[in-house]
Amino acid sequence: MRLRTLEIVNFRNHTHTVVRCGQEVNGLIGENGQGKTNVLEAISYVCLTKSFCGTADSVAVQVGQNQFAVSGELVGDSGVRYSVGVTYDSEIREKRYAINGSAIERFADVVGEFPVVVLSAESGSITLGGPVDRRKFMDFVIAQSSRSYLEDLLEYRRVLRQRNKVLMDAKLTRRDYADLLAIWSGELIARGVRIMMKRRIFVNELQALVQDSYRKLAGDRETPGIRYRPSVEADEQENEEAVRLRFGEELERKKEEEQRSAATVVGPHRDELEMLINGLNARKYASQGQHKTLLIALKIAEFAYLRERRNEKPILLLDDIFGELDTHRSEHLLDLISPLGQAFLTATSEKVLPPDINWGKANRKFLVRDGAVTYNETESYNW
Ligand SMILES: Nc1ncnc2c1ncn2[C@@H]1O[C@H](COP(=O)(O)OP(=O)(O)OP(=O)(O)O)[C@@H](O)[C@H]1O
Ligand SMILES: [Mg+2]
Repeated sequence: MRLRTLEIVNFRNHTHTVVRCGQEVNGLIGENGQGKTNVLEAISYVCLTKSFCGTADSVAVQVGQNQFAVSGELVGDSGVRYSVGVTYDSEIREKRYAINGSAIERFADVVGEFPVVVLSAESGSITLGGPVDRRKFMDFVIAQSSRSYLEDLLEYRRVLRQRNKVLMDAKLTRRDYADLLAIWSGELIARGVRIMMKRRIFVNELQALVQDSYRKLAGDRETPGIRYRPSVEADEQENEEAVRLRFGEELERKKEEEQRSAATVVGPHRDELEMLINGLNARKYASQGQHKTLLIALKIAEFAYLRERRNEKPILLLDDIFGELDTHRSEHLLDLISPLGQAFLTATSEKVLPPDINWGKANRKFLVRDGAVTYNETESYNW
């Protein structure tokens, strides 16, 4: 998947910006606060219907305006072209998203259509943050590659809310809601087991990919690992029926705790994805450079996983990642990403980018200043 053109209107500090992208590396260079990340965020709206930072649509509307519009032309690896448009109106709080002129009613339907891999400041929480951040990472990647996973996840969240509500009602009214709770427990287990089975397969596949890209970045001295720690551990984790039974037993065992806390305490919403370097928990023991390397390795693995699953190369959005890497690692990073397809990189100075990028037709260098993006267009633009 590649982005051919991007047009941004009244979005953050961009009043009207048009970007004619290169097919490979696109460098967005500018000083702090000029609007580089905002361009990546606009690409995220085109591909994912929303910001990768998880911010509200209303804050993306340019201050003093009440609407933004972002549109882009995408080209699939097979050559199919898509024209995508997103608008948001803050007065009526309405977002519209259309592909080739047809409005998409359910934004979840877009997940995975235009795969992207994002590495930004927020991604740091994957290795440094709490379990919720790692579950988000897992869910985001698996959902982009499996529609049924996304459906299970959305349904699981709905069931969880309902079940928690029953627990809360039972606590407040002191009535016996056992029958109602049992119905919701059944639904929770049905969806929850499917989610856990898929997460297990995903982590197993990702593990090899992470080790491979970590080695390419940092050599053999350090070995990373990722380990799935489901909330429900069964003797035979690969056996769906065994996990289902254990899930039921655990709910039964935690009955009193659930009554006290009025919350569901067992299930994939309590899973953990453990990350290790040389066998030690990365969150507690890894150095800053190791965190960064692990994060990049995870992102490259995510890329490979999505490409394999969707039969489509994701678009890479790399926000400010070269600045903190030593030249050795940043050159290896470029070697890793340049054959991958199209990438958008931001940097405060050209100097922090690897020196051997051959700027020209496929690799374009844009200057970003005060919400404007300029490119010295000497090459013809005909892809
Ligand atoms: N809704 C908005 N309306 C107008 N301007 C906004 C809005 N949201 C953010 N900005 C402005 O956008 C600028 C930040 O843009 P962005 O985050 O893209 O900067 P950047 O070039 O990535 O900088 P850095 O190198 O510091 O990361 C700030 O000047 C901020 O005031
Ligand atoms: Mg930025």
